[in-house]
Amino acid sequence: MDVSKLMYRDGLMDGERILVTGGGTGLGREMTEGFLKLGATVYICGRRQNKLDETAAELMAAHGGKVVGIACDIRDPDAIHAMVDTIWADGGALTGVVNNAAGNFISRTEDLSVNGFNAIADIVFRGTFYVTLDVGKRLIAEGKKASFLSILTTWVWTGSAFVVPSAMSKTAINSMTQSLSTEWGRYGLRFNAIAPGLFPTKGMSARLSPGGQGGNSKNDLNPMGRAGEMHELANLAVFLMGPGAEYVNGQTIAIDGAGALANGGTFYPVLQGLGDAEWDQMRAMIKGTNAKDQAQRATE
Ligand code: HXC
Repeated sequence: MDVSKLMYRDGLMDGERILVTGGGTGLGREMTEGFLKLGATVYICGRRQNKLDETAAELMAAHGGKVVGIACDIRDPDAIHAMVDTIWADGGALTGVVNNAAGNFISRTEDLSVNGFNAIADIVFRGTFYVTLDVGKRLIAEGKKASFLSILTTWVWTGSAFVVPSAMSKTAINSMTQSLSTEWGRYGLRFNAIAPGLFPTKGMSARLSPGGQGGNSKNDLNPMGRAGEMHELANLAVFLMGPGAEYVNGQTIAIDGAGALANGGTFYPVLQGLGDAEWDQMRAMIKGTNAKDQAQRATE
């Protein structure tokens, strides 16, 4: 990310302590860089300690400050509890949580197994809630304020064909955002969400447009004729997580160049015409990526 394009003064986030789930890679890493550059201490979690350590080292070398990587699979509530214990022991309460970790792949829904559904729902739907609950309980007990931000998609308003477990799970987290913004507002805990359009990342491209096919990958369908730039996402995330806009609560804000308004922002137009052979090919590519990732995790 080009940090010179951050909109804020240095030191804006001094004293903030933020957990970014899935912070080692992709959008999570970019937001982590933005928070760090502006003075926050950032805890990042993911499934690979090596990757987290590498990201933390690179970001601290570039900007100074403190990034701590803690391996944690958010599908496991006990692992979350242990991670949050570690964070609290390292300097006290968090001031913010970015629910960014996610999993997704394109598939015809009739090709999914229960395991395939759960692979996504366990991360996005259940895991996001487990993190929010564990951190939220501690903040309420200690009377501390904080900001929670969830990374969603515009499908929370429209649904989307061919990514049904993700659309269902993220819609549920949109509901969590609205529900807890009211229920926990009285504790000084606020809940907002961002619905990004296309911000290309490695994990996303491999599973949502394998081999360059797939939805949302066509910039010419976007009114602005381009994908999002990472500093644009980071600027919005800082606005919602940093000090100064605490009255913003319960909102889900799209950042997609009006892509969803113009073309629906879903996978339907691009994927609905595909036949068996094309789906077989894409499934093989996605499963290849998953297997490669699993092998990499197993060696660490
Ligand atoms: C059908 C599939 C499949 C596919 C996996 N499965 N890929 N089924 N079509 N293409 C099935 C498997 O067969 C298996 O079911 C089950 O899913 C679990 O598969 P595993 O490979 O064992 O899962 P696991 O290693 O736990 O990986 C989780 C994952 C993977 C979600 C499947 O994609 C992952 O680790 N993702 C993290 C990174 C990521 O997805 N980034 C993109 C996020 S983009 P069976 O029945 O065979 O046991 C995003 C929003 C994008 O979230 C918004 C864009 C606008």
